[in-house]
Amino acid sequence: MSPGVGRRQFLSDTLAAAALLSVPRAAAALGDTTTREFVLTAREATHQVGTTPWPTWTYDGLVPGPEIRLTRGDRVRIRLDNRLPQPTTIHWHGLAVPPAMDGVVGLSQPAVQPGESFTYEFDVTQSGTFFYHSHVGLQLDRGLYGALIVEEPGENERLRVDREYVLLLDDWLTGAPEEALASIRNARGGMMGREGPAYAGYLLNGTTAASQLVVARGERVRLRLINAASATPFRVGLTGHTLLVTHADGQPVDPIEVSTLVIGMGERYDVIVSATNPGTWPLLVSPSGSAATVSLGMFVYTGYDRSVAPPVVWPPELQAGRALRYQDLRSTSLAAPALPASLIIPAVLSGGMGGMGMGGGATSWTINGQIYPNADPFVVREGARVQIAMTNRSMMPHPMHLHGHTGMLSVPGVSGQGFAKDTVLLNPMDTATLEFTADNPGRWLFHCHNLYHMELGMARVVEYR
Ligand code: C2O
Ligand code: CU
Repeated sequence: MSPGVGRRQFLSDTLAAAALLSVPRAAAALGDTTTREFVLTAREATHQVGTTPWPTWTYDGLVPGPEIRLTRGDRVRIRLDNRLPQPTTIHWHGLAVPPAMDGVVGLSQPAVQPGESFTYEFDVTQSGTFFYHSHVGLQLDRGLYGALIVEEPGENERLRVDREYVLLLDDWLTGAPEEALASIRNARGGMMGREGPAYAGYLLNGTTAASQLVVARGERVRLRLINAASATPFRVGLTGHTLLVTHADGQPVDPIEVSTLVIGMGERYDVIVSATNPGTWPLLVSPSGSAATVSLGMFVYTGYDRSVAPPVVWPPELQAGRALRYQDLRSTSLAAPALPASLIIPAVLSGGMGGMGMGGGATSWTINGQIYPNADPFVVREGARVQIAMTNRSMMPHPMHLHGHTGMLSVPGVSGQGFAKDTVLLNPMDTATLEFTADNPGRWLFHCHNLYHMELGMARVVEYR
């Protein structure tokens, strides 16, 4: 351990003690160079969810996998050892890595076969909250994900906080995701089958029990929220407190105070909570749109009673409070206005078999009527300023994720440049435009982060020519 990390080490010890973070056992910093080395072993393991043993697929036997914490400017070398019965890869969600390191089978690399290894190596040029996950089929829904946090080097850290918790949200599928997909496929125009997998519950950092988030009065506490679920956008709120949103998808925004926020699959928000209301306070989560809450965390001030019954529906003060909207977000530091867009790519999202995906049921999901992989690439030229103009013509939300780039998101009714994002949650019938500079030549996936929608066709390749 190098000097000067005392406080951070103390914090991470505290967190580990609270079983909220798993310490990366396989992590080994290389002396005092800035190359950081990690090993992640993808393997079957039985993860205990409360009293329920859950035989599933993991990194290092853990759900979530070990946290990877880096500093901007680091070079990383991460070896994936595949001990699963199937081929796998890892994708570094939100990081613009070289194309060969992006983990998409067929675009970036061949899948890593059982018994084999692959070493991912890249420079870390962004800071913020990210995550890593398998990018083969539906493996993410088995638990193959973990947090990837990149801190700003030393003095550059803009926001002082006293404590930090990384909160990974997930929808918990106890059976095989391939069976869930088969039952969605067997739906007849949305009438018979299911619109999504039958989840057994929801997990925060791998557990359904309300994790204890210990805080002391007067502290500023950062929560790094990551939605690692495969098919569930969540509404999140903390009783007795507001959330000061400071970052969206790892990128700084003008801080905005809200009571609740909705986080789509693949999205991340950093929020700061001012611990000024001593007591024991449930952190509430629900699949967005549902009034029934689940309590997956308990904010406990030191010295206070550790058991409190969480409300089963959203309490009036959170319901009436401000809910985060994309319209309210602005990037903190905007470079000079970018060049005018030189290429506009329309992307109409809809459901097959009945067209609209009414009631959520559809047996294929399309972009501009095409079902990936039988779909044309979006061709761009290096240096171009590109807009993907998205329209959701279905009754389901779609969190659309672009690999290899961070774009500027603009939404209707707001002028100006918007804010930086790599994953955009489009609610039913919404429109939004993601604008980016084509500065990372390669072949990149653009897709819905509902894994079942992606598997049923809602994806495209952005290709440089
Ligand atoms: Cu989070 Cu294509 O990935
Ligand atoms: Cu979708």
